[in-house]
Amino acid sequence: MRTRAAVAIAPGKPLEIMEVNLDDPKEGEVLVEIKATGICHTDEFTLSGADPEGLFPAILGHEGAGVVIKCGPGVKSLKPGDHVIPLYTPECRECPSCLSRKTNLCTAIRATQGQGLMPDGTTRFSMLDGTPIFHYMGCSTFANHTVMPEIALAKVREDAPFDKICYIGCGVTTGIGAVLNTAQVEIGAKAVVFGLGGIGLNVIQGLKMAGADMIIGVDLVVQAIVDLTKTPFDKIGGADYSFDCTGNVKVMRDALECTHRGWGQSIIIGVAPSGAVIETRPFQLVTGRVWKGTAFGGARGRTDVPKIVDWYMEGKVEIDSMITHILKLEDINKGFDLMHSGESIRSVVVF
Ligand SMILES: NC(=O)c1ccc[n+]([C@@H]2O[C@H](COP(=O)([O-])OP(=O)(O)OC[C@H]3O[C@@H](n4cnc5c(N)ncnc54)[C@H](O)[C@@H]3O)[C@@H](O)[C@H]2O)c1
Ligand SMILES: [Zn+2]
Ligand SMILES: [Zn+2]
Repeated sequence: MRTRAAVAIAPGKPLEIMEVNLDDPKEGEVLVEIKATGICHTDEFTLSGADPEGLFPAILGHEGAGVVIKCGPGVKSLKPGDHVIPLYTPECRECPSCLSRKTNLCTAIRATQGQGLMPDGTTRFSMLDGTPIFHYMGCSTFANHTVMPEIALAKVREDAPFDKICYIGCGVTTGIGAVLNTAQVEIGAKAVVFGLGGIGLNVIQGLKMAGADMIIGVDLVVQAIVDLTKTPFDKIGGADYSFDCTGNVKVMRDALECTHRGWGQSIIIGVAPSGAVIETRPFQLVTGRVWKGTAFGGARGRTDVPKIVDWYMEGKVEIDSMITHILKLEDINKGFDLMHSGESIRSVVVF
């Protein structure tokens, strides 16, 4: 079939809106009509050329929501008409990682996903002249239709609005999950969040859900955190938990070092430029601080994403106020401009 997509032709160039060919879903794959997609900082990272694993031409986008149109042979858990959220971290429930119950980093399709290909090693997208177009993070939601493996689709309830729940495909789940799954923040905790963009605000939302007593948000000013958290009852000071949502390795160090001696945990969410390294004095860890990272908030997508959609529908999770701009596909490049100027929290493209 033919569909419309925003294609990343080359690093640093604006996306080009064009008609593309999309092949039918193969064994274990599903054709999805994308109804809405958010624009995440990670799309910008790849489009800018800063991502060493970035491939071109590609159809970017990994924060979508849509409807199943057609299932390939062997697909059991989905049928046409089902509402789904694409997962850049799949959940096969069979690989050693899924079975370990210790990680959400399913390895079932990792190798081909990283190469911009479907699990059989080929791409479903091509330009009208036949030039293959790579998939992105296994999702490619900047297209009106996409093909995805069944294990990378979370089936969600049908009354949830696509232009809101698409954000659960990355930002919301990453932020809330970092708090609930990775840090396992307890009621009464003190926490510091560095970087109050589309991810950081969801970390704050997660901290409120977890019952944190004190939440300090930091954006661009990083001094005096330890002083801020010192109380007359605690001579050492420091946060119980901190979260980096900036991708800046210097901030990551500050985030670790502002946590409490003996038990502070710092969670890295931000994606750093290629080649960047984090550093701290080992004594920081010797004296009990813990450094952790998280991908997709430690969420097991097919299991956890439908729950977060329920939480949104029940009013437990806030999304609407963070979606600051709604755009048409033709205006998708404006979404990147709004991100660069800091005007948007999340821009969402509706098809
Ligand atoms: N680990 C994951 O699974 C995952 C998922 C999605 C996004 N990310 C990454 O998370 C990061 C945040 O994404 P986003 O969509 O929220 O981006 P964003 O651009 O919306 O927000 C980043 C915020 O950090 C602030 N900031 C930048 N430098 C700072 C500094 N030195 N000190 C304090 N604040 C600073 C910016 O002003 C901005 O408000 C990105 O690196 C992104 O690639 C990771
Ligand atoms: Zn993202
Ligand atoms: Zn798996």
